[in-house]
Amino acid sequence: MQSVPPSSLFPQHVIARKRDGHTLTTAEIGAFVRGATDGSWADYQLSAMLMAVFLRGMDSAETAALTDAMMRSGVIADLSSVALPKVDKHSTGGVGDKLSLPLAPMVAACGVAVPMISGRGLGHTGGTLDKLESIPGFRVGLSMEEYRRQMERVGVALIGQTRELAPADKKLYSLRDVTATVECIPLICASILSKKLAEGIDSLVLDVKFGRGAFMREKARARELARAMVDVAVRVGKPTRALLTNMDRPLGRAVGNAVEVAETLECLQGRGPADVMELTYQLGIQMLLLAGVETDPIAARARLERSVGSGAALAKFAQIIEAQGGDPRVVDDPGLLPQAPAQELVLSPESGYITDVEPMAVALSALRLGAGRIRAEDGIDPSVGIDRLCQTGERVERGQPIARILAKDTDSARRERESLLSAFSFGTAAPAPVALVDEVLC
Ligand code: URA
Repeated sequence: MQSVPPSSLFPQHVIARKRDGHTLTTAEIGAFVRGATDGSWADYQLSAMLMAVFLRGMDSAETAALTDAMMRSGVIADLSSVALPKVDKHSTGGVGDKLSLPLAPMVAACGVAVPMISGRGLGHTGGTLDKLESIPGFRVGLSMEEYRRQMERVGVALIGQTRELAPADKKLYSLRDVTATVECIPLICASILSKKLAEGIDSLVLDVKFGRGAFMREKARARELARAMVDVAVRVGKPTRALLTNMDRPLGRAVGNAVEVAETLECLQGRGPADVMELTYQLGIQMLLLAGVETDPIAARARLERSVGSGAALAKFAQIIEAQGGDPRVVDDPGLLPQAPAQELVLSPESGYITDVEPMAVALSALRLGAGRIRAEDGIDPSVGIDRLCQTGERVERGQPIARILAKDTDSARRERESLLSAFSFGTAAPAPVALVDEVLC
């Protein structure tokens, strides 16, 4: 039988306090999260509370209490048997953002444990789990026990969210989605961090993106989110740094699932696109510094580059694939990844420089081809997408291929040609380069 809370913790009382702009106590926030987890608050009460938080906000102490309560709403992975420092990375997501895939093995090959629990793609952003599942046999649904054992044995695991981790977030996120309360910094912060902190990490690196292909387009809002997440994570005892990064153009030359794994393999051989390589190194540097295996960014970068040059990072990726039931031969033979039946080249209509590649137009093309999902329950086609994408600043000649469409049939490939072409702008001069990393917040 559920015990009756004191009247000060009744849902209507806690909701009214937030509605009237008060700062909630840890006990009040705990009552709300318990209510979401055990069903003792009705959906209409949870929704009213979410809207009150949306309108009135939460300060850093309240957000930390919310994060902590949500993290404790389920199991917290016990990785105490893993001796190495444990650091993860979280990205707010972007177009062509496959950085987790090269980053995790690279960092793990440098002697840092990487417990990485990721999500699936929704809307214009792809998901790490979908990309990994394009590797034949790869299993992302490990149990908590399998996850712990793999962390001990391999030092890295790339898995999906389990039911036991932060169940309050699952409930609250589903209500936020239908009550117009997603775009709220304290709620986003608690949602992301509660799941990450339940993984059993010691510290965390955040890649918070801004720009046309990002979840938060405005740099000032993305910065606000990054600042809030770093402050809250530090308050709950997990040293965290955030990179504020530019998502005004697609990352790399591939957008899809199998195509992004193929690009990952190029990165792990040191010949990936310059932007993907650079951002992976920048995130990796912060992970090695937080882990304490290096104290100097230049030495950290050199160590990451050595892990690539020596083949250790690629070997670690093969080890992860094998440990999770996948076919490790894809590392030497990307032809074993799912191949799309139809291909179509997009040709440049003029000679000159590419002055822009609009990320949303590229993402929507990939989505229409079947590489992503519009609703959470949709399936995806791992083989389709876009590769050989020319990047902003490149010089091209009229008639030269600037992208390749990979589709399930010739009709859908042809249908996408015009809309993908509309993503490109051309000019007579190369645009000024933009910094990928705008700022590092500690
Ligand atoms: N991703 C999450 O996990 N939660 C949010 O609230 C927003 C993005």
